[in-house]
Amino acid sequence: MDKKGIKAILHMEPAGQEVTVDGWVRTRRTSKGITFFELNDGSTIKNLQVVLDEDFPRYESVVRDIATGCSVSVTGTLIPSPAKGQQVELKVSGVTIVGGAPPDYILQKKRHSFEFLREIAHLRPRTNSFGAVARVRSAMSYAIHTFFQERGFLYVHTPIITGSDCEGAGEMFQVTTLPVDKPPTHEGEVDYTKDFFGKKASLTVSGQLEGETYACALKNIYTFGPTFRAENSNTSRHLAEFWMIEPEMAFCDLTLAMDVAEEFIKYIFSSILENCPDDMDFFDTRISKGVVGNIERIAKSSFKRVTYTEAVEALNKAGVDFEFPVTWGVDLQSEHEKFLTEKVYELPVILINHPKEIKAFYMKSEDDKTVKSMDVLVPRLGEIIGGSERESDYDTLKDRIAACGLNPSDYWWYLELRRFGSVPHAGFGLGFERLIQFVTGMQNIRDVIPFPRAVKTLEF
Ligand code: 4AD
Ligand code: MG
Repeated sequence: MDKKGIKAILHMEPAGQEVTVDGWVRTRRTSKGITFFELNDGSTIKNLQVVLDEDFPRYESVVRDIATGCSVSVTGTLIPSPAKGQQVELKVSGVTIVGGAPPDYILQKKRHSFEFLREIAHLRPRTNSFGAVARVRSAMSYAIHTFFQERGFLYVHTPIITGSDCEGAGEMFQVTTLPVDKPPTHEGEVDYTKDFFGKKASLTVSGQLEGETYACALKNIYTFGPTFRAENSNTSRHLAEFWMIEPEMAFCDLTLAMDVAEEFIKYIFSSILENCPDDMDFFDTRISKGVVGNIERIAKSSFKRVTYTEAVEALNKAGVDFEFPVTWGVDLQSEHEKFLTEKVYELPVILINHPKEIKAFYMKSEDDKTVKSMDVLVPRLGEIIGGSERESDYDTLKDRIAACGLNPSDYWWYLELRRFGSVPHAGFGLGFERLIQFVTGMQNIRDVIPFPRAVKTLEF
């Protein structure tokens, strides 16, 4: 006897062969003495239709017990299905109810809002939308590793707990074992020498600085792990815990980093279209009309490469009344980013050479006012990648660290990379959840990660 997943079974030629399938009952309906139930096992968005005839032993009581939500193991024969939209169905010869589900099981056939499903994050993977997101997320992780591994990049595991602030933005969650109600003090300040690490520690906002140390030894590396930001922004594109992919390349300038970013995004798009056709079809019909056509088009297009200065001019020329007015030097808001990709260029945009005042300390200078930065912007979301060429000159970097109000001695090891065999190098960080949002068309970032962490959100 054969125990296959539903995805494999749905591709089989139905010729009366016997199979056993395990799964959860999605729906049950009875018509003219025959009971049909839809079985799902997570291998595909599609359900297997399972048919129970009236002459089944103890028909009445079996049908009563197989309620929506229960887990079953079903044996039967595969026959051609007369119903539209499916090739096969399973005519049951034996059923074992593995775990029953009482009538208060909440995921009955009716549709629930995503807001409500967030409150039952332990059950939402049993819905079509969250099953599809989970499969796409997994396939995308695999494609990300494949892209870099095939190109000889090393996967480096950078630390989660850190003593330095990579972005210098002070948006870090502190890690401590000191008693928070009464910490030890020294001259009126908290005495971190008494803390676990003997100094102030936090959760990392980015693995970049540690990633650079490996790139400056092994040339091309990438990280792929969780990062944490205590940003107080309650938006559909911000999480307090999100995953980031950060390639870092030695002997590499900004132009090459842009080429890699563009090739990378297109590769991921093509790979998901090829490997997740059923889930993508679901997103296209049920979540966001046209999402498939859109990513197909982008996978074949060249991204627009535009300087910050050109973008500011284009925004001002547009004559639009933005909520936040645009002048040279301001950090562009998501309304501006979206306008650039959706209305001005109608393509993903790689925005480069931002004013140095609005960017992190480690970026290499382009001229006295701008740095060799790059942000990749996409329609609907705005920024999905942030990156740059890195400052590789010791003295310039030290001055920039101090000018940004940070203490150069905290970054001694990062500075030393510029003393011994310094090289031009560049890299970027892609927000994994933003990429999934873009590919699936899901509106809220909290619905593309299994258990979202955000401001005042920590159930589960
Ligand atoms: O632009 P960011 O802050 O860049 C860095 O962290 C660099 N150290 C990366 C590098 O050069 N290696 O963040 C990179 C990306 C953003 O473009 C965005 O996609 C995502 O990370 N991101 C977030 N995603 C979800 N929630 C948040 N709060 C995010 N903050 C940034
Ligand atoms: Mg950024």
